[in-house]
Formats: sequence, C-alpha cells, structure tokens
Amino acid sequence: MQSVKVKAPGRINLIGEHTDYNDGFVLPAAIQMGATATITKRADDEIHLTATDLNDTLIIDSLANLRISEKQWANYIIGVIVQFVKKRKFPTGFDIQLTSDVPMGAGLSSSAAIECSIAFGLNELFEFGIDKMELTFMAQKAEHDFAGVQCGIMDQFASMFGKKDEVVLLDCQTMQYQYFPLQLKGYQIILFDTGVKHALASSEYNTRRKECEQGIQFIQSKFPQVQSLRTASLQMLNETVDPIEFPLVYNRCKYVIEEISRTQAATEDLKQNNLTAFGEKMFATHDGLSKLYQVSCSELDILINLVSANENVIGARMMGGGFGGCTINIIKEQNAPELIEWIAAEYLTKTGKSLIHYIVGVAEGVHIIE
Ligand code: GLA
Repeated sequence: MQSVKVKAPGRINLIGEHTDYNDGFVLPAAIQMGATATITKRADDEIHLTATDLNDTLIIDSLANLRISEKQWANYIIGVIVQFVKKRKFPTGFDIQLTSDVPMGAGLSSSAAIECSIAFGLNELFEFGIDKMELTFMAQKAEHDFAGVQCGIMDQFASMFGKKDEVVLLDCQTMQYQYFPLQLKGYQIILFDTGVKHALASSEYNTRRKECEQGIQFIQSKFPQVQSLRTASLQMLNETVDPIEFPLVYNRCKYVIEEISRTQAATEDLKQNNLTAFGEKMFATHDGLSKLYQVSCSELDILINLVSANENVIGARMMGGGFGGCTINIIKEQNAPELIEWIAAEYLTKTGKSLIHYIVGVAEGVHIIE
C-alpha cells in the first residue's frame, strides 16, 4: 500500500514571546527533535492510529466518525484530519504510526510537531495540493478545536517553515517571514528543563489572550484605528487604561507592547552579531514575562536567577507559553559542561528536582524522510 514517512520538528524561540497572537514578531527556529509519522493508505474507510512510544492504538471505524477522544495524543491527530475533511474528500482510510522524541510539556511544541507531521503527510499522500501556509493554519486550528488551547501561529509555523542553521523572523500580522543564519561564534543554545508543567498552563494561556483583547477594547475607545497591540503604543495604553483600576490588563498590554518592539531591536542585534545586546534583551523579556505577564513560575525563575550574573551566560529567559517547561540560554561553549553541572546541583538543592538539559541544533522544518 502507498505510504509516506514525514518528520516535523519541535521549536525554540529566541525572542518574541506571547506576541504571536497579538500580531507581533517572533524569532523561532526548528530543532533536531521531532515527531515522525508514517501514514499508509488502507483499502477500507477505517483510520488506525498508533502511538508507538506509548504502545497505544485507537481505531476509528469511519471518516464520518471523527470526534474528540479520551486519548489526548490522538486528539492532535484527529484534530488535523477533521480540518482536511472540511476541505477535501479522502478516497480511503489510512493508518498512522506516530513516534516523537520531542519531550512533552517542555515548551518545545511537541503537539505542533505532531500536528504538522500529520498535516504535511496527509497532504502529500493523498496529493491534496494544499500549500504549506494553509497547512500551518490547519494544524493551529486542530490545537484550538481539539486541545482547547487558543494558541498563536508560531509553533506550527516554525515546525513547517524551519530551516537548518537559520532562524526565522515572522511578522504575525502579515505572515511575511525572513530567514537569517544563526551565528553564535563560540556560544551555544542550551535549554534547561524545569521538569514541571503546571496544570494551569492552558487555562492561563487562554486568559492572557482575553486580557490582551480587553486592553485593545479600552485602547480603541480613544484610538479606534488600533486593531491589535501591534499598532498600540505605551502612550495610548497610558491614556486609556488606568493601572490602578485595571492592573492586570495594564501590565499584560505593557509587556506585549514592549516585547514587540524589543523583538525588532533584538533581531537587529543578532543580524549585526551583537550577542551581548541580544542577550540583555532576553533577560528583559524574562523579567516582563515573570512580573508583568505573570506566566513564569518559581522553577523557571530559579533557573534564570542562577545564570543571570554568570559571565558565561550571555542571555537567558523562560521560553514558550510558560508555567513550566524550559529556559533558553546562550552559553559560552567552552565553559558549558562545568556550568551545566553547577546549575543542576543548585537546582536539585533548591527544588529537589533533577535538571535535564538539551543542547539545541537548529534543524530543517517538516520534510519527507526515506
Ligand atoms: C505557546 C503557543 C504559541 C505562543 C507561545 C508564547 O507555545 O502555542 O502560539 O503564543 O506559547 O509565545
């Protein structure tokens, strides 16, 4: 039977956090860890899903019977299939075998990797001819409808459009993007994984989106032309939102407005090889995420405090949605092993948890293998 094997990567994000759903900029890259899906046509109308790593299977008896499953891993797949059913007609059923080495709950977009591998794979196998940008939005919609997270577009975009050894600046307002090489000259990107994923992550994520929308409504009362925080300024915010009366809305919007311009400035730093200036902005982002946006947690803050005064660490911050997962750090390669050992020991003393780290390689976005 005709078959296709696809790998879709997880992602890192250098800077531009919680800006994607505010029409801002993000600076992600695809990583070496990814989800691999083998999709094979069937002679009948059934769909057989297998999560090889979990040794678990779900059989859906017909394409007409696609609904939310109790198996969370399956929902990322079903969510994508449903998007195809809305647009195209599957001539037959299919088998999907899925395996992934993107750690779950680490903020590396393990779910986007699954969604993108399925979206790209089904499109290839059944020759539906849907372009990659549309597939990206279909994968995002799967997350909205079947995982209940009103995520932005960054994770699915990075998994689809990532390029080896390059970061990509995405303007989430226009969806225009620009690649440039990641040159770290003697430095490397290391992720420290807190090993925690607090349960409130997805509900708080959705709440942040609402708080930003509330802020836009306030701003629009005086500046009706403002459609998103991308075009709002701090001055507009100060004129329309009282920080005493609405401290949460004020602080959320302040962070986002600052982060959008910080990301543009940081991108220039990186293009000009000014890693020191770039790193300072990463620390500033962490500060904003922790104090104003309040999506950090004690474990993440501990990891940032440990590296913030270290001369071998040029920049660091929490990464992704927050409430656990990883910090992203730019660390002097030569001194990294010693530093990792020291941080792991400190983290164990302070939290009782052992620290996992990942040395990141910037890899190719979704592609067919074999
Ligand atoms: C999660 C979402 C992304 C983005 C980040 C925060 O990873 O899926 O769309 O909003 O959080 O930057």
